[in-house]
Amino acid sequence: METKVIRVDEENIDLQLIAEAGAIIREGGLVAFPTETVYGLGGDALNAASSGKIYAAKGRPSDNPLIVHIADMKMLGKIVMEVPEAAYKLAERYWPGPLTMIFNKAECVPAQTTGGLATVAVRMPSHKVAKALIEAAGGYVAAPSANLSGRPSPTAAKYVIEDLDGRVDMIIDGGEADIGLESTIIDLTGKTPMILRPGYVTEEMLEKAIGSVDTDRTILDVDSKQAPKAPGMKYRHYAPKGNLVLVEGAAAQVVAYINEQLAWHKSRGAKTGVIATDETADGYHADCIKSVGKREDEDQIARQLFRILREFDDEEVQVIYAESFKSQGVGEAIMNRLLKAAGHQVEHLPDTE
Ligand code: TXA
Ligand code: MG
Repeated sequence: METKVIRVDEENIDLQLIAEAGAIIREGGLVAFPTETVYGLGGDALNAASSGKIYAAKGRPSDNPLIVHIADMKMLGKIVMEVPEAAYKLAERYWPGPLTMIFNKAECVPAQTTGGLATVAVRMPSHKVAKALIEAAGGYVAAPSANLSGRPSPTAAKYVIEDLDGRVDMIIDGGEADIGLESTIIDLTGKTPMILRPGYVTEEMLEKAIGSVDTDRTILDVDSKQAPKAPGMKYRHYAPKGNLVLVEGAAAQVVAYINEQLAWHKSRGAKTGVIATDETADGYHADCIKSVGKREDEDQIARQLFRILREFDDEEVQVIYAESFKSQGVGEAIMNRLLKAAGHQVEHLPDTE
């Protein structure tokens, strides 16, 4: 299949091009598009065959449900059984934006879209190109992240092209993603709302809007034997081709420990890499040292993380060590993605300070 790549400027949207993209989705085709979190791979959410195509294009297991993207609160009622009060409160504060809510699904949402579940995940993205596309496509766009299954979510069109060229009808290049990590997912179908995936909208922000929320602990616990409630969270994600290990401890010890490990791996001929911060990057002796930014600037770290994971693949690094981050606020989402990328391999250094 020939993939058409077009460029659309968020501040000056070419409606002709968007109409063309919308028509592709309405006719059952696939269009990758920018959102403020990561790029999505869009198809008609109410068309079972379209959802089937999305799984095939990504190489994704079909029990892993898709998020339905809408552009207007008016559209929500048709695809869910009921809209709980908490959803209105959350929508008021965080929609459009990086928050996905889970509802009991209405009949019209095909089982293919929800991976066979009786619930449906819904998000209203704030990216103007996404909004225009959803409207042009008929209002309901199912979209997982636009990467091949298992690879880091794409934060720029060039990564979508890398993964999906020849597998989708169109890719819309709308520049770099603002946030860089996928949306927070909150399940509103139980007694207490539950976070299934941490993201840019933090637990604290959610609690401000709706009071106490739970977190699905299986997403952060290394040893959890239970399956996470978001089916996608059980798959090894974002994994670089090299072996990634996280190191936790005081900065000086972390640098010393990683250097020791690097020296050993180098002596055995391995190509080595480090995911560092601006504060420590100069202290490492590796073939490939990449800083995710200033330790205090979590927004920047979030924005850069997936790009850096992909770059280690491009450079064929075999052994990668990463510093770890505090697990609060956006840091929780950063650590969640890093832990998954590392297959939960973490070295905890004894606190000697
Ligand atoms: O920011 C985002 O959410 C991006 C952009 C494109 O919107 N999308 C995204 O989709 O990250 P995806 O498919 O890569 O991740 C969706 C996650 C998966 O872990 C999936 O299992 C979970 O959401 N999910 C979807 N529907 C669900 C449901 N009904 N119940 C539980 N988990 C669900
Ligand atoms: Mg994904």
